[in-house]
Amino acid sequence: MNQGQTERHSVSLTVNDRAVEAEVEPRLSLADFLRRHLDLVGTHLGCEQGACGACTVLVDGQSVRACLMLTVQADGTTVETVEGLATNGELHPVQEAFRTKQGLQCGFCTPGMLMRSLELIRDNRGITAEQAREGLASNMCRCTGYQYIVEAVVEAASNMDTEVNQ
Ligand code: FES
Ligand code: FES
Repeated sequence: MNQGQTERHSVSLTVNDRAVEAEVEPRLSLADFLRRHLDLVGTHLGCEQGACGACTVLVDGQSVRACLMLTVQADGTTVETVEGLATNGELHPVQEAFRTKQGLQCGFCTPGMLMRSLELIRDNRGITAEQAREGLASNMCRCTGYQYIVEAVVEAASNMDTEVNQ
C-alpha cells in the first residue's frame, strides 16, 4: 500500500432491518459510521469515551457504546438504532411511554436511554423501578430526569407485556 493511501475493509451488516455494505477505514467507530455514512444521526455522541451512554445502540440485541465499537467489529451483526423504533409513523411503546411519562427534557440522552431501556425490557418484561434504575445506571442524563425515565421504563414494560417481537 502506498504511503498516504488509507486501508479499507469491507463490512456487511443489517441496520434497522436494512442490509448495508460498505468499505470503511479500520478505525472508524460504529457511531461515526451510523451518523456519517448512514445519516442515522439519532445516535448521539457525548463523551466519546464510553462514559455517558448517549451513543448506545443494540448489536445483536445487546447494548453497546457505539463510540467505542469499531465498524469492522460490527461486520455480520444486526444493529438497532433509535431510528428503527417507530414503525409506520407510530411510536414504539418505549418511545410512547417516555412521551407520556415525560421521560425526556432536552432529549440528548434519550436515544441511548431508549435503546438501553428496550434491552432491559426485552430481558425482563416485569421490570421493577429499582431494576430499571439499576439497569440505566450506565446512561447519564444531564437534565437529571431519572425518576421520570424509570417510570417510563416500567410503564413501557407493562404496555409491551402482551406484544410480540418488540
Ligand atoms: S458518546 Fe459513547 S459513551 Fe458517551
Ligand atoms: S433529557 Fe437532557 S440529557 Fe437527558
